[in-house]
Amino acid sequence: MSTTFTLDTSTSRATPTPAPMKRLTVPMIARRKGGEPVVMLTAYTARMAQLLDRHCDLLLVGDSLGQVIYGLDTTVKVTLDMMCAHGAAVVRGSYHAVVIVDMPFGSYEASPEQAFHSASRVMAETGAAGVKLEGGVAMAPTVAFLVERGIPVIGHVGLTPQAVNVLGGYGARGKSQAEYAKIVDDAQAIARAGAFAIVVEGVVEPLGRAITSSVDCLTIGIGASPACDGQVLVVDDMLGMFERTARFVRRFDDFAGRIDTAAAAYAAAVRDRSFPAEAELYAPVAAG
Ligand code: KIV
Repeated sequence: MSTTFTLDTSTSRATPTPAPMKRLTVPMIARRKGGEPVVMLTAYTARMAQLLDRHCDLLLVGDSLGQVIYGLDTTVKVTLDMMCAHGAAVVRGSYHAVVIVDMPFGSYEASPEQAFHSASRVMAETGAAGVKLEGGVAMAPTVAFLVERGIPVIGHVGLTPQAVNVLGGYGARGKSQAEYAKIVDDAQAIARAGAFAIVVEGVVEPLGRAITSSVDCLTIGIGASPACDGQVLVVDDMLGMFERTARFVRRFDDFAGRIDTAAAAYAAAVRDRSFPAEAELYAPVAAG
């Protein structure tokens, strides 16, 4: 779906993207297996999508928005309504990257039919190009059901945050031989089912490498391996918005620190009445 920006935004924050480009497609990205690394970041709002779009191949409206935007303790409480609202905002704010929306917990696990019902709602309400869902062998029939009906799917194996209550936490996966082998089986099942990419999260390094060389589809690592076909991070983690993050996060900036400095400067300017200054006031209407 292409987005055209026609608003007169002289006084609006809904800044249009100045030079719309043709949007990438799922087949264009899928062909990059073993080639130029695929760049993916999460985005949850239109403005962030506008800023990230030209740097990314894929924008993921991750269910991590439950923690990042809504302050929830896990992603288990995220709803389909939340994903649709933020998915639509990210599609409106982008014109180049392929937008993928996460299927939230409880919206797809019961049956392939339930998954199709939820995923088709996401696609229709947001204009996204595809969906992502967590799980391995058990979810393979669901992935095949969606792909055969025209919905591109990204799988997600290894550390699957929606399963935190079964896993018991967010530690790295694949440390025992049995779990290592199970995660390889999961990835291979999802690849055979027709997913065009698989997010491999929070696994011991050789596992990300082994999965990448044993599946035909793209692998996108997060705490996995530089050998993956691409990488993804939660954008707020990458920007340095949180003091506590997983080992695999690299902070490319210190936004939390910069916001603190800016907020302190604003508060001081309000308190000493130096804000607003004359240039920030409207002139009175000339008399007569
Ligand atoms: O929800 C999310 O943001 C994700 C990424 C961490 C891959 O699933």
